[in-house]
Amino acid sequence: MRKRIIAGNWKMNMTVLQTEEFMQKFAPLCSDAKCEVVLCVPFTDLKRMSELSYGTKIKVGAQNVSYADSGAYTGEINAEMLIEAGAEYVIIGHSERRAYFGETDETVNKRTLQALKWKLKPIVCVGETLTERENGFTEEVLTRQILQGLKNVKGDIIIAYEPVWAIGTGKTATPEIANDTINFIRKKVMPLAGDVPILYGGSMNALNAQSLLDMSEIDGGLIGGASLKPNDFSVIVHCK
Ligand code: PGA
Repeated sequence: MRKRIIAGNWKMNMTVLQTEEFMQKFAPLCSDAKCEVVLCVPFTDLKRMSELSYGTKIKVGAQNVSYADSGAYTGEINAEMLIEAGAEYVIIGHSERRAYFGETDETVNKRTLQALKWKLKPIVCVGETLTERENGFTEEVLTRQILQGLKNVKGDIIIAYEPVWAIGTGKTATPEIANDTINFIRKKVMPLAGDVPILYGGSMNALNAQSLLDMSEIDGGLIGGASLKPNDFSVIVHCK
């Protein structure tokens, strides 16, 4: 049985003060959570978040990690720093990093290998754009992202399938599309990394989460907007 993982991606939202307010409401709500609950927060929130989540069911994650151990990489952050600040997970290759910050399959691969070297759990994101889907390139794009992004990766990873057209747009993939695509991804990932958890991400919210999580291939969610709202995120955490 693959475990259910509900991970929030706060993106560039929430100050330390806002993190404290969020946790005051959210931590009691998820004390009976049956799934793995992860919150991937901005670097500056990591330390406070790990203090506030101590003794709760909530695990802490970052949103990027350098592929280098240390050195002249202005603006980057290394695995050791993340671990010291309390991170156990790290999102790698989110489509926003691919679109705005020059992330490639090669850098996704280097970051994933680096995370595993330091025993951080990578949540590796893959997904096609609207044009790619409309032109019939979904499988080709996902295959490339998986084969190149997961080259030489043997280990404890999590995959997030996030169709770019569904992120932050309010357009969720139907449960059937998400399930079929994740089934395709699973077949590609299996020979490389084994039967790892594969999450769905893209406008998952309190109203549609159950229908997505009911699908056999969907092992959890990577949730942006709805993870900023304690009540909504708690509803997703409590889906059956
Ligand atoms: P969204 O973001 O839930 O706001 O669509 C998901 C993500 O980008 O991880």
